[in-house]
Amino acid sequence: MTRQKTGAQALNALTLNKAVFPVAGLGTRFLPATKAQPKEMLPIVDKPLIQYAVEEAYQAGIRHMIFVTGRSKRAIEDHFDTAYELENELEMAGKAALLSLIREVQPADMLCSYIRQPRALGLGHAVLCAEKLVGQEPFAVLLADDLMIGQTSGPGILSQMADVFYETQQSVLAVQEVPSEQVHRYGIVSGELLRPGKTQVKRIVEKPRAEQTDSRLAVAGRYILTPGIFDMIKSAGKGALGEIQLTDGIAELLKHEGVIAYNYLGKRFDCGSKLGFLQATVELALKHPEVALEFQAYLQALKTPV
Ligand code: UTP
Repeated sequence: MTRQKTGAQALNALTLNKAVFPVAGLGTRFLPATKAQPKEMLPIVDKPLIQYAVEEAYQAGIRHMIFVTGRSKRAIEDHFDTAYELENELEMAGKAALLSLIREVQPADMLCSYIRQPRALGLGHAVLCAEKLVGQEPFAVLLADDLMIGQTSGPGILSQMADVFYETQQSVLAVQEVPSEQVHRYGIVSGELLRPGKTQVKRIVEKPRAEQTDSRLAVAGRYILTPGIFDMIKSAGKGALGEIQLTDGIAELLKHEGVIAYNYLGKRFDCGSKLGFLQATVELALKHPEVALEFQAYLQALKTPV
Protein backbone atom coordinates (compact mmCIF):
# COMPACT_ATOMS: atom_id res chain seq x y z
CA MET A 1 0.00 0.00 0.00
CA THR A 2 1.44 3.38 -0.96
CA ARG A 3 1.06 6.42 1.21
CA GLN A 4 0.09 9.40 -0.91
CA LYS A 5 1.55 12.78 -0.01
CA THR A 6 -0.85 15.69 -0.29
CA GLY A 7 0.02 18.46 -2.75
CA ALA A 8 1.12 20.74 0.09
CA GLN A 9 3.37 18.07 1.56
CA ALA A 10 4.93 17.24 -1.81
CA LEU A 11 5.75 20.90 -2.42
CA ASN A 12 7.16 21.42 1.03
CA ALA A 13 10.95 21.64 1.19
CA LEU A 14 10.91 19.37 4.24
CA THR A 15 9.56 16.26 2.55
CA LEU A 16 10.60 12.90 3.91
CA ASN A 17 12.35 10.96 1.12
CA LYS A 18 15.06 8.94 2.84
CA ALA A 19 15.30 6.28 5.52
CA VAL A 20 18.44 5.08 7.27
CA PHE A 21 18.65 1.49 8.52
CA PRO A 22 21.58 0.96 10.90
CA VAL A 23 22.35 -2.74 10.59
CA ALA A 24 25.97 -2.83 11.74
CA GLY A 25 25.48 -3.84 15.38
CA LEU A 26 27.14 -7.00 16.71
CA GLY A 27 23.90 -8.70 17.76
CA THR A 28 25.60 -10.37 20.72
CA ARG A 29 22.27 -11.26 22.36
CA PHE A 30 21.55 -13.59 19.47
CA LEU A 31 24.84 -15.44 19.16
CA PRO A 32 25.61 -17.90 17.67
CA ALA A 33 22.81 -17.21 15.13
CA THR A 34 24.37 -13.81 14.36
CA LYS A 35 27.95 -14.99 14.02
CA ALA A 36 27.91 -14.98 10.22
CA GLN A 37 24.69 -13.07 9.40
CA PRO A 38 23.20 -9.79 10.59
CA LYS A 39 20.36 -10.22 13.09
CA GLU A 40 18.19 -8.11 10.76
CA MET A 41 18.13 -11.10 8.38
CA LEU A 42 16.52 -13.38 11.00
CA PRO A 43 13.02 -14.25 9.73
CA ILE A 44 9.73 -13.75 11.53
CA VAL A 45 7.61 -16.51 9.94
CA ASP A 46 8.78 -16.04 6.33
CA LYS A 47 10.21 -12.51 6.07
CA PRO A 48 13.49 -11.15 7.43
CA LEU A 49 13.21 -8.38 10.03
CA ILE A 50 14.82 -5.86 7.67
CA GLN A 51 12.07 -6.40 5.08
CA TYR A 52 9.34 -5.55 7.59
CA ALA A 53 11.15 -2.26 8.34
CA VAL A 54 11.74 -1.42 4.67
CA GLU A 55 8.05 -2.08 3.90
CA GLU A 56 7.08 0.22 6.78
CA ALA A 57 9.25 3.01 5.33
CA TYR A 58 7.90 2.42 1.82
CA GLN A 59 4.35 2.61 3.13
CA ALA A 60 5.25 5.98 4.69
CA GLY A 61 6.09 7.32 1.21
CA ILE A 62 9.88 6.89 1.44
CA ARG A 63 11.69 5.59 -1.66
CA HIS A 64 15.40 5.93 -0.89
CA MET A 65 16.59 3.30 1.62
CA ILE A 66 20.10 3.74 3.06
CA PHE A 67 21.62 0.77 4.86
CA VAL A 68 24.53 1.29 7.25
CA THR A 69 26.13 -2.11 7.19
CA GLY A 70 28.95 -3.83 9.03
CA ARG A 71 30.44 -7.26 8.78
CA SER A 72 28.47 -9.92 6.90
CA LYS A 73 26.68 -7.27 4.86
CA ARG A 74 26.23 -9.46 1.78
CA ALA A 75 22.98 -11.08 2.88
CA ILE A 76 21.15 -7.73 3.15
CA GLU A 77 22.48 -6.42 -0.18
CA ASP A 78 21.60 -9.69 -1.88
CA HIS A 79 18.13 -9.69 -0.35
CA PHE A 80 17.25 -6.33 -1.95
CA ASP A 81 18.93 -7.18 -5.27
CA THR A 82 17.45 -9.00 -8.27
CA ALA A 83 17.93 -12.78 -8.03
CA TYR A 84 18.17 -13.64 -11.76
CA GLU A 85 18.83 -17.38 -11.43
CA LEU A 86 16.04 -17.86 -8.89
CA GLU A 87 13.59 -15.78 -10.95
CA ASN A 88 14.49 -17.76 -14.04
CA GLU A 89 13.93 -21.10 -12.28
CA LEU A 90 10.57 -19.98 -10.88
CA GLU A 91 9.49 -18.64 -14.27
CA MET A 92 10.38 -21.92 -16.03
CA ALA A 93 8.54 -23.88 -13.32
CA GLY A 94 5.47 -21.64 -13.75
CA LYS A 95 5.51 -20.62 -10.09
CA ALA A 96 3.99 -17.18 -10.67
CA ALA A 97 2.92 -16.52 -7.08
CA LEU A 98 6.42 -17.14 -5.71
CA LEU A 99 7.92 -15.08 -8.52
CA SER A 100 5.83 -12.03 -7.68
CA LEU A 101 6.56 -12.57 -3.96
CA ILE A 102 10.31 -12.18 -4.49
CA ARG A 103 9.89 -9.36 -7.04
CA GLU A 104 7.86 -7.39 -4.49
CA VAL A 105 10.92 -7.26 -2.22
CA GLN A 106 12.36 -4.47 -4.33
CA PRO A 107 9.70 -2.35 -6.05
CA ALA A 108 10.91 -0.63 -9.25
CA ASP A 109 10.70 2.85 -7.73
CA MET A 110 12.78 1.98 -4.65
CA LEU A 111 16.46 2.95 -4.49
CA CYS A 112 18.84 1.18 -2.09
CA SER A 113 22.22 2.58 -1.04
CA TYR A 114 24.80 0.93 1.21
CA ILE A 115 27.49 2.49 3.35
CA ARG A 116 29.82 0.72 5.71
CA GLN A 117 30.28 1.49 9.41
CA PRO A 118 33.90 0.36 9.85
CA ARG A 119 33.50 -0.43 13.57
CA ALA A 120 30.41 -0.75 15.77
CA LEU A 121 31.04 2.49 17.67
CA GLY A 122 27.40 3.06 18.57
CA LEU A 123 24.05 3.96 17.00
CA GLY A 124 24.91 7.68 16.79
CA HIS A 125 28.07 6.82 14.89
CA ALA A 126 26.11 4.52 12.54
CA VAL A 127 23.68 7.37 11.74
CA LEU A 128 26.63 9.72 11.19
CA CYS A 129 28.00 7.30 8.57
CA ALA A 130 24.92 8.08 6.45
CA GLU A 131 25.46 11.86 6.53
CA LYS A 132 26.78 12.23 2.95
CA LEU A 133 23.98 10.07 1.52
CA VAL A 134 21.26 11.91 3.46
CA GLY A 135 22.53 15.44 2.81
CA GLN A 136 20.56 18.43 4.09
CA GLU A 137 17.17 16.68 4.30
CA PRO A 138 15.01 15.34 7.08
CA PHE A 139 15.20 11.55 7.25
CA ALA A 140 13.82 8.56 9.11
CA VAL A 141 15.85 6.08 11.15
CA LEU A 142 14.44 2.57 11.59
CA LEU A 143 16.00 -0.05 13.86
CA ALA A 144 14.83 -3.23 12.20
CA ASP A 145 15.33 -5.35 15.31
CA ASP A 146 12.41 -3.39 16.79
CA LEU A 147 9.55 -4.90 14.81
CA MET A 148 6.70 -2.37 14.89
CA ILE A 149 3.20 -3.32 13.81
CA GLY A 150 0.39 -0.76 13.44
CA GLN A 151 -3.13 -1.47 14.63
CA THR A 152 -5.23 -3.83 12.50
CA SER A 153 -5.92 -2.11 9.15
CA GLY A 154 -4.45 1.15 10.52
CA PRO A 155 -1.33 2.94 9.24
CA GLY A 156 2.17 1.71 10.08
CA ILE A 157 4.15 3.38 12.86
CA LEU A 158 6.38 5.43 10.54
CA SER A 159 3.35 6.64 8.55
CA GLN A 160 1.81 7.89 11.82
CA MET A 161 5.08 9.65 12.68
CA ALA A 162 5.35 11.19 9.19
CA ASP A 163 1.93 12.80 9.76
CA VAL A 164 3.21 14.34 13.00
CA PHE A 165 6.36 15.51 11.19
CA TYR A 166 4.40 17.14 8.35
CA GLU A 167 2.17 18.84 10.90
CA THR A 168 4.96 20.17 13.17
CA GLN A 169 8.08 20.19 10.94
CA GLN A 170 10.01 19.04 14.01
CA SER A 171 11.97 15.86 14.68
CA VAL A 172 9.70 13.05 15.93
CA LEU A 173 10.59 10.15 18.25
CA ALA A 174 8.37 7.08 18.63
CA VAL A 175 7.74 6.48 22.33
CA GLN A 176 5.89 4.00 24.52
CA GLU A 177 5.29 3.84 28.27
CA VAL A 178 7.37 1.20 30.05
CA PRO A 179 7.27 0.00 33.68
CA SER A 180 9.71 1.92 35.91
CA GLU A 181 11.86 -1.20 36.40
CA GLN A 182 12.58 -1.14 32.65
CA VAL A 183 13.61 2.52 32.17
CA HIS A 184 17.32 1.61 32.51
CA ARG A 185 17.09 -0.24 29.18
CA TYR A 186 15.92 2.73 27.07
CA GLY A 187 16.41 6.35 26.08
CA ILE A 188 13.86 8.11 28.31
CA VAL A 189 12.16 11.42 27.40
CA SER A 190 10.23 13.91 29.49
CA GLY A 191 8.58 17.20 28.59
CA GLU A 192 5.30 19.06 28.19
CA LEU A 193 2.21 17.16 27.06
CA LEU A 194 0.80 19.07 24.04
CA ARG A 195 -2.19 16.78 23.56
CA PRO A 196 -2.83 13.10 24.15
CA GLY A 197 -0.01 11.14 22.54
CA LYS A 198 2.21 14.14 21.75
CA THR A 199 4.84 15.56 24.08
CA GLN A 200 7.18 18.50 23.44
CA VAL A 201 10.45 16.97 24.57
CA LYS A 202 12.44 18.94 27.15
CA ARG A 203 14.88 16.25 28.22
CA ILE A 204 16.22 12.94 26.97
CA VAL A 205 18.58 10.60 28.82
CA GLU A 206 20.11 7.31 27.70
CA LYS A 207 19.45 4.36 29.99
CA PRO A 208 18.84 6.25 33.28
CA ARG A 209 18.46 4.47 36.61
CA ALA A 210 14.81 4.43 37.81
CA GLU A 211 15.57 7.00 40.55
CA GLN A 212 17.09 9.42 37.98
CA THR A 213 13.79 10.05 36.19
CA ASP A 214 10.05 10.33 36.87
CA SER A 215 9.20 9.67 33.25
CA ARG A 216 8.40 6.27 31.83
CA LEU A 217 8.31 7.40 28.19
CA ALA A 218 10.80 5.19 26.39
CA VAL A 219 12.10 5.77 22.87
CA ALA A 220 11.40 2.87 20.50
CA GLY A 221 13.40 2.18 17.34
CA ARG A 222 11.80 4.76 15.02
CA TYR A 223 12.94 8.35 14.56
CA ILE A 224 12.35 11.19 12.12
CA LEU A 225 15.24 13.62 12.38
CA THR A 226 16.20 16.93 10.84
CA PRO A 227 19.70 17.08 9.27
CA GLY A 228 20.84 19.29 12.16
CA ILE A 229 21.32 16.03 14.09
CA PHE A 230 24.62 15.25 12.33
CA ASP A 231 26.55 18.19 13.85
CA MET A 232 24.89 17.49 17.20
CA ILE A 233 26.10 13.85 17.22
CA LYS A 234 29.60 15.10 16.40
CA SER A 235 29.58 17.64 19.24
CA ALA A 236 28.11 15.16 21.76
CA GLY A 237 31.02 12.71 21.38
CA LYS A 238 31.14 9.43 23.30
CA GLY A 239 28.50 8.72 25.95
CA ALA A 240 27.11 5.73 27.85
CA LEU A 241 29.13 2.48 27.41
CA GLY A 242 31.85 4.49 25.61
CA GLU A 243 29.64 4.52 22.48
CA ILE A 244 28.57 7.43 20.28
CA GLN A 245 24.91 7.51 21.26
CA LEU A 246 22.09 8.86 19.09
CA THR A 247 20.30 9.88 22.31
CA ASP A 248 23.14 12.28 23.21
CA GLY A 249 22.92 13.84 19.74
CA ILE A 250 19.16 14.33 20.23
CA ALA A 251 19.84 15.92 23.65
CA GLU A 252 22.13 18.43 21.86
CA LEU A 253 19.54 18.99 19.11
CA LEU A 254 16.98 19.92 21.77
CA LYS A 255 19.06 23.01 22.63
CA HIS A 256 18.45 24.35 19.11
CA GLU A 257 15.23 22.79 17.75
CA GLY A 258 11.92 21.35 18.89
CA VAL A 259 11.52 17.58 19.16
CA ILE A 260 8.19 15.76 19.54
CA ALA A 261 7.70 12.45 21.35
CA TYR A 262 4.82 10.56 19.76
CA ASN A 263 3.03 7.64 21.47
CA TYR A 264 2.53 5.36 18.49
CA LEU A 265 -0.60 3.29 17.95
CA GLY A 266 0.44 -0.31 17.60
CA LYS A 267 2.78 -2.85 19.01
CA ARG A 268 6.56 -3.23 19.29
CA PHE A 269 8.50 -6.47 19.54
CA ASP A 270 12.12 -6.29 20.69
CA CYS A 271 13.43 -8.87 18.24
CA GLY A 272 17.02 -8.20 19.34
CA SER A 273 16.13 -10.29 22.40
CA LYS A 274 15.22 -13.97 22.30
CA LEU A 275 11.92 -13.49 24.14
CA GLY A 276 10.76 -10.61 21.92
CA PHE A 277 11.72 -12.59 18.83
CA LEU A 278 9.66 -15.59 19.97
CA GLN A 279 6.67 -13.37 20.88
CA ALA A 280 6.77 -11.77 17.41
CA THR A 281 7.01 -15.17 15.75
CA VAL A 282 3.97 -16.50 17.62
CA GLU A 283 1.81 -13.38 17.13
CA LEU A 284 2.60 -12.95 13.45
CA ALA A 285 2.22 -16.67 12.76
CA LEU A 286 -1.27 -16.45 14.27
CA LYS A 287 -2.09 -13.81 11.62
CA HIS A 288 -0.35 -15.46 8.69
CA PRO A 289 -2.94 -16.66 6.12
CA GLU A 290 -0.95 -19.79 5.25
CA VAL A 291 -0.30 -21.16 8.74
CA ALA A 292 -2.59 -19.34 11.20
CA LEU A 293 -5.28 -22.01 11.61
CA GLU A 294 -2.95 -24.98 11.93
CA PHE A 295 -0.60 -23.08 14.22
CA GLN A 296 -3.47 -22.03 16.48
CA ALA A 297 -4.60 -25.65 16.72
CA TYR A 298 -1.03 -26.67 17.50
CA LEU A 299 -0.74 -24.10 20.32
CA GLN A 300 -4.11 -25.18 21.66
CA ALA A 301 -2.97 -28.82 21.72
CA LEU A 302 0.22 -27.78 23.54
CA LYS A 303 -1.89 -26.10 26.24
CA THR A 304 -4.16 -29.11 26.60
CA PRO A 305 -2.30 -31.94 28.39
CA VAL A 306 -2.77 -35.36 26.76
P1 UTP B 1 21.58 -2.68 19.65
O1 UTP B 1 22.43 -2.25 20.77
O2 UTP B 1 20.23 -3.19 19.93
O3 UTP B 1 22.23 -3.76 18.73
O4 UTP B 1 21.54 -1.52 18.59
P2 UTP B 1 23.46 -4.68 18.87
O5 UTP B 1 24.62 -3.99 19.49
O6 UTP B 1 23.64 -5.24 17.50
O7 UTP B 1 22.86 -5.86 19.77
P3 UTP B 1 23.38 -6.60 21.06
O8 UTP B 1 23.00 -5.72 22.20
O9 UTP B 1 24.87 -6.82 20.89
O10 UTP B 1 22.62 -7.90 21.03
C1 UTP B 1 20.35 -1.02 18.01
C2 UTP B 1 20.46 -0.93 16.50
O11 UTP B 1 21.57 -0.13 16.12
C3 UTP B 1 22.41 -0.81 15.23
C4 UTP B 1 22.11 -2.30 15.45
O12 UTP B 1 22.36 -3.03 14.25
C5 UTP B 1 20.65 -2.27 15.83
O13 UTP B 1 19.80 -2.26 14.68
N1 UTP B 1 23.82 -0.44 15.53
C6 UTP B 1 24.24 -0.40 16.82
C7 UTP B 1 24.69 -0.13 14.50
O14 UTP B 1 24.32 -0.18 13.30
N2 UTP B 1 25.98 0.22 14.80
C8 UTP B 1 26.43 0.28 16.08
O15 UTP B 1 27.60 0.62 16.28
C9 UTP B 1 25.53 -0.05 17.12
